Amino acid sequence: MRSNGRTHYNVGMLRIGPLQLDSNVMLAPVAGHCDLPFRLVVRACGFDGLAFTDLLCPHGVLKQNRQTRYLMATCDADRPLGMQLYGREPELMCDAARWAVDRGASTIDVNMGCPVDKVTKTFAGSMMLCIPDETVAMFERLVGAVGDRVPVTAKLRLGYERDELTAPRLAARLVRAGARCITIHGRTAALRFKGTVDLDGIGRVVEAVHEAGGGDVPCIGNGDVRTPFDAQRMIDATGCDGVMIARAALGAPWLLGDTAHYLEHGELPAELTLRRRVECVRQHFAHLLTYRERRYAINRIKQKIGIYSKHLGPCKPLKAAIAAMSEPSEMNDIVDGFIDAAGDAADRVPVTWAQRDAIFTHERLAHATATTRA
Ligand SMILES: Cc1cc2nc3c(=O)[nH]c(=O)nc-3n(C[C@H](O)[C@H](O)[C@H](O)COP(=O)(O)O)c2cc1C
Repeated sequence: MRSNGRTHYNVGMLRIGPLQLDSNVMLAPVAGHCDLPFRLVVRACGFDGLAFTDLLCPHGVLKQNRQTRYLMATCDADRPLGMQLYGREPELMCDAARWAVDRGASTIDVNMGCPVDKVTKTFAGSMMLCIPDETVAMFERLVGAVGDRVPVTAKLRLGYERDELTAPRLAARLVRAGARCITIHGRTAALRFKGTVDLDGIGRVVEAVHEAGGGDVPCIGNGDVRTPFDAQRMIDATGCDGVMIARAALGAPWLLGDTAHYLEHGELPAELTLRRRVECVRQHFAHLLTYRERRYAINRIKQKIGIYSKHLGPCKPLKAAIAAMSEPSEMNDIVDGFIDAAGDAADRVPVTWAQRDAIFTHERLAHATATTRA
């Protein structure tokens, strides 16, 4: 147990109701990205914590249409797994949650943060922050439906309107309604992804959750964690019990394992060499081929290589070769050729977390200066 003056937290471990986790780092739901092939790469990079599916539409879950079947796809190596639902109709949400638990969900999470019109126009996602009574009533029903089998959790934004801070009160009510964990993204829905994350706002939600849960319900901070150092800074500044990572993991699936290790041991593990990073790309493609049709897998890895490339150093030939790929069998020659051509650099770390952290710190300072001047 460590203390940061604001609260106490267990380093490395996290308990969500009856679910004991080995890590207090989580892979966020990221629609269109954090599917089974990607989660398997994240887990192969040493991450043994909780990962989430994309947000799932309860109608889709119950109809089991092709897309939702794919979004819900999982396997034994993909545990522990949180399945996230969005919606406000209690009956539908309860039925979908039962389905999800039967299909391997270790937790059921309710999305209360999505700002996308398609979701908010049905009064789901972040719009649920605007209808707290209805939200809490639905949540209570959900806890009644599956809460004896898996923990039910919620992921919120700070509020709906730009400077609103409604999340502390709603989070406390959700905890009293049976939520076993709250995740808070430190921006309001109106801000979408603008500006920097509001650590103070996260701290307020953490306090509210801890108070309502008597210290037994963890609160997870989310937003702008781009390096293991950011995770520690967020914990220190807010007293949150762990962190959830979304965008920064998409091109660096090893960020989750590295962050978990850093939080637990206070130092980074050996960072991945270029060779091992490129192996992640090869592995990702192999999983895509296992779970999706050939054409989709090829198109997907062509998009993905652009995101991975930020962590690979100079890699134009790799990007160009993958962009030109027409048959899956070409991938092995492309990767092997790139690694051979890299020579000794293949066994070095192309961009370290410390280097990335220095860049982000510089950006943050520039943003703070610009905001102060304005
Ligand atoms: C493309 C995209 C898709 C997202 N999809 C979801 C989602 O399905 N469910 C959810 O709760 N949050 C979703 N989010 C929000 C992230 O989970 C996370 O809260 C947000 O990106 C802030 O964390 P980050 O700074 O680590 O990216 C999405 C974000 C992005 C950029």
